[in-house]
Amino acid sequence: MARDDRRPDQESAARYRTMVAKRSQGIPSAYLLGEREFFGRSFVVDHRVLVPRPETEHLVETALDYARPGAATLDLGTGSGCVGLSIALESREAHDQWRALRVTCTDRSLAALAVCRTNRRRLGLENDVDLICADLDSGFDLTAFEVIVSNPPYVDPDDSSLDDAVRRYEPHDALFPSPLPDEDASALAFYRRLFGSTTNVPAGTVVIVEIGIGQGDEIVEIAQPRFDLLSRRRDYAGIERVLVLTRKADAGQATAS
Ligand SMILES: C[S@@+](CC[C@H](N)C(=O)[O-])C[C@H]1O[C@@H](n2cnc3c(N)ncnc32)[C@H](O)[C@@H]1O
Repeated sequence: MARDDRRPDQESAARYRTMVAKRSQGIPSAYLLGEREFFGRSFVVDHRVLVPRPETEHLVETALDYARPGAATLDLGTGSGCVGLSIALESREAHDQWRALRVTCTDRSLAALAVCRTNRRRLGLENDVDLICADLDSGFDLTAFEVIVSNPPYVDPDDSSLDDAVRRYEPHDALFPSPLPDEDASALAFYRRLFGSTTNVPAGTVVIVEIGIGQGDEIVEIAQPRFDLLSRRRDYAGIERVLVLTRKADAGQATAS
């Protein structure tokens, strides 16, 4: 409509019709276009990663509010890298290189991490952000991080209200948490594992998580034996979306610097 004085060439018209047909099957437009904007920047996305959601920008803002300059910061379950790479860039723009946050992005999906690697290169962060392929904290030292940020899988596999196109086209590892062998599948399985794994992190370590609708109280309860709640934040729709917790000190425990 903006260019109604020009006719598209045959190739463009055919490509457009193919995309419309795929979109009408429910394939997310971000996968068709190969990119999605997040925190003011374009991220490459495809079927290997969750499409970045606008409400997840609150996770980035909260991490920037809570991390002290220079803090070692972990983005756990990074997918496209939208959270960790945005945190790294925003803190570089706000501080000199010594006070910028030192960000590491991890994911257990090697395929997702390949997309994150592409975004890291496009955003010029190859020398600034480390990538690790790991299932939660296996194979690396979680205690090395002062701030742990995560938008984990938190959809109940039996949730019948889940958009059919999301279930069909977005990676199940990004949506549904996989329980431990002796556990039932549950939306909160990842939080149970996360707060179980953070028993050794130093007192003062900050954990910032995105949560699903109405999950806040139960997650606070899961974390509470070892974590204090610092804040709960709502998204622009008024839905509680982010929890900020900090590791309590207990007798004989190391303290984060
Ligand atoms: C909800 S997606 C979030 C992706 C991205 N951070 C975002 O906000 O768009 C969750 C990501 O966590 C990864 N993941 C799931 N279980 C994991 C685990 N146990 N350890 C590490 N990563 C995991 C998935 O592969 C997926 O990329």
